[in-house]
Amino acid sequence: MKKDNTKKTSVMNAPYRKNFLIQKKTRFLITCKFMLQPLHPTILAIESSCDETSASVIRGGKVLNNVIASQAVHHKHGGVVPELASRAHQQNILRVVNEAMASAGIKNSDLNAVAFTRGPGLLGSLLVGVSFAKGMALALGLPLIEINHMEAHVLAHFIDEPHPSFPFLCLTVSGGHTQILVVHDYLDMRVIGETHDDAVGEAFDKAAKMMGLPYPGGPLIDQYAAAGNLKAFSFSPTVMPGLDFSFSGIKTAFLYFLRDRKKENPDFVEQNLHDICASLQHHLVQMLLQKLTLAARQTGIHQVAIAGGVAANSGLRQALQQTAVARGWQIFVPEFQYCTDNAAMIGMAAHFKFLQAKFTGLDAAPVANLVVGA
Ligand code: KG4
Ligand code: ZN
Repeated sequence: MKKDNTKKTSVMNAPYRKNFLIQKKTRFLITCKFMLQPLHPTILAIESSCDETSASVIRGGKVLNNVIASQAVHHKHGGVVPELASRAHQQNILRVVNEAMASAGIKNSDLNAVAFTRGPGLLGSLLVGVSFAKGMALALGLPLIEINHMEAHVLAHFIDEPHPSFPFLCLTVSGGHTQILVVHDYLDMRVIGETHDDAVGEAFDKAAKMMGLPYPGGPLIDQYAAAGNLKAFSFSPTVMPGLDFSFSGIKTAFLYFLRDRKKENPDFVEQNLHDICASLQHHLVQMLLQKLTLAARQTGIHQVAIAGGVAANSGLRQALQQTAVARGWQIFVPEFQYCTDNAAMIGMAAHFKFLQAKFTGLDAAPVANLVVGA
């Protein structure tokens, strides 16, 4: 049967037809460009969600470097001051990016994409990284890749061998988040439990502040705990349903504990610092492991990973190791530099997104409370 094209041409007048052909040509060019994208892309990744300004160059999924400028300005304030953090990012970002490019021996023309943290994080801090990445992408004609900071913490497990295989469980513990995730694939993960209030990193930092220690107190509690008795003091458990957490109760309980003990002995903290730190750390670690054990039982998944700043904690690492032996888990713990905030994990996540051509437009704005899977 002869095909009748008259109706088609009659509804598509000249200007519409021209537009239609241009769109078709653009789609064709985009498809060709994607097919020509290298399988071993070179990506510049930028992280600026909180108080570390970091840049990393990653080529073909291999991290070439991980430059981090930490912000000492917050130490004396006992916590991150958002306004000071964004100013420090502004001061550091150019130097950090230049250093990452130079130490990797990379020229602008070698880059295939620029990746940045879109959220979650402090809005003013995120804005610095997002704007810088957009400026570079625009100037160099490169595609942009947006990354969720919490997904990147999980994907830090693919920087070094051995990698977990899918599906695996990941306990992501940082200054702003405490989550248990089932990771089905590089870009497919689901939160199955999380904190209803404070993050465990915040509990570490606030408890340290109550003892007069500077920010961030987590690593200091870890250090003092090494020489302490973890059974010296006990705190009442916080009961939460299912796989969820709450850390606001222990913060208040710890405040009253110190207040009461200091009434009896004003030098209580100084005289018992190691034991207090060991006992508190043990309590927090037990809260984490109890839920992680429940998650493994409920899902039947026995590959278990930890990620985020608190994954650097030696008490958590030891307890995880013991639980793994007792329960037959295979565990994955990232190198220290990839636990706390870093751009290498942003680059790793960007590598997987690049391979799936998941690029972002120049209109992408930072999102302070960006959720996993958004
Ligand atoms: O992942 P991260 O660098 O930043 C956020 O995304 O929040 O995590 C920072 C948190 C801080 O609360 C810090 O005190 C905690 O990680 N942290 C530790 C240790 N190292 C870092 N907490 C306990 N023990 C450590 N060794
Ligand atoms: Zn983080």
